Amino acid sequence: MERLTYSAPCLFGIEGILGDELRRMGAEDVTPQNGKVVFSGSEELLVRANISSRYAERIQVQLGTFRATSFEDLFQGVRALPWERFIAKKDAFPVKGWSLNSALHSIPDCQSIVKKAIVERLKAKYGIGWFEETAATVQVQFTILKDEVTLLIDTSGVGLHKRGYRRNAGGAPLKETLAAAIVDVTRARLAEQVIDPCCGSGTLLIEAAMAARRMAPGAHRRFAAMQWGWLPEELWKQEREHAAEQVLYDRSFAALGGDIDPEVLPIATDNAIKAGVGGQVKVEQRDLRTFRPDGESGVVLCNPPYGERLLDVETARKLYRTMGEVFVPKKGWSYAIISPDETFETQFGRKADKRRKLYNGMLKCQLYIYYR
Ligand SMILES: C[S@@+](CC[C@H](N)C(=O)[O-])C[C@H]1O[C@@H](n2cnc3c(N)ncnc32)[C@H](O)[C@@H]1O
Repeated sequence: MERLTYSAPCLFGIEGILGDELRRMGAEDVTPQNGKVVFSGSEELLVRANISSRYAERIQVQLGTFRATSFEDLFQGVRALPWERFIAKKDAFPVKGWSLNSALHSIPDCQSIVKKAIVERLKAKYGIGWFEETAATVQVQFTILKDEVTLLIDTSGVGLHKRGYRRNAGGAPLKETLAAAIVDVTRARLAEQVIDPCCGSGTLLIEAAMAARRMAPGAHRRFAAMQWGWLPEELWKQEREHAAEQVLYDRSFAALGGDIDPEVLPIATDNAIKAGVGGQVKVEQRDLRTFRPDGESGVVLCNPPYGERLLDVETARKLYRTMGEVFVPKKGWSYAIISPDETFETQFGRKADKRRKLYNGMLKCQLYIYYR
């Protein structure tokens, strides 16, 4: 079977987690880089990664990389790639991209050179002079970093963090891919109960419940590559069935949420139902101040207000101090809090047992983990 090279962009800080996930799916030559993972595998893997990845932002086919410092280099490099393998006669192939620290820095110029080079290639291959671009869309993406050009086509369409369950977001929702990474780092998917005392729209709880039950995040959504003739329709059916077989329906798991704001609670419940974990996720109005670690064990995950979007910094810090009081060390319990505030540990009152750098969008944060 033909092997393709892929690239999966991801949030900074979770490249290693994504690399491991892709290896478990059967990816080869897995190479985590800054903000992405490059790997290789079959067409089947393209489909599987789209349906099942919890951490990738999208899955792209990487057609090639080359150096370019002039428009001529760019044109020749793009024209040499096998576009006809991926773009059918009537497909639309819009081009977008970015350039950083490179001689070629005008994006509109690069865009039109790339488009022109693909057109020239396809004209020669298909023996036609005009492209209708009325069938499926194949989004072409170029990146130019320090004069190194990479050409990709996007197979996902809407970003993979959009699982389809979050039609309603609370005030400052966490990106689903970041929530999934927090669940992985804290091993919350293996717990009996996960608690988020600042649950908002419920993203951490929902991602934890889905991971615990091994539910594929993209099982019910569509992907750009589903329209493409060169990918057998059968593969989508086969991989969806494979994903459905993995689900642990009997897995006992409770995801309990609290939030001081009563308005977010129905949103969290609604999202959990849409995600198929309505039976596992329960939320109630509750002030974090009343939190107690009840029961033998639990994993507490928390994405409190940062004082940027929701509360001012001093109010946020007051909440961190409250956390230090109520997140008491107890055997079987762990606490993980994501925050960009570098004084977090001082406010909380204890040094974290483990820290992990994660990016919430462009905001550099730490996940502070307490085991004891
Ligand atoms: C950043 S948001 C959480 C977003 C959530 N992770 C999501 O994905 O939707 C912080 C939440 O903390 C809640 N909150 C603020 N102060 C609180 C308190 N004292 N007790 C409980 N919840 C509180 C806010 O109402 C808000 O919903």
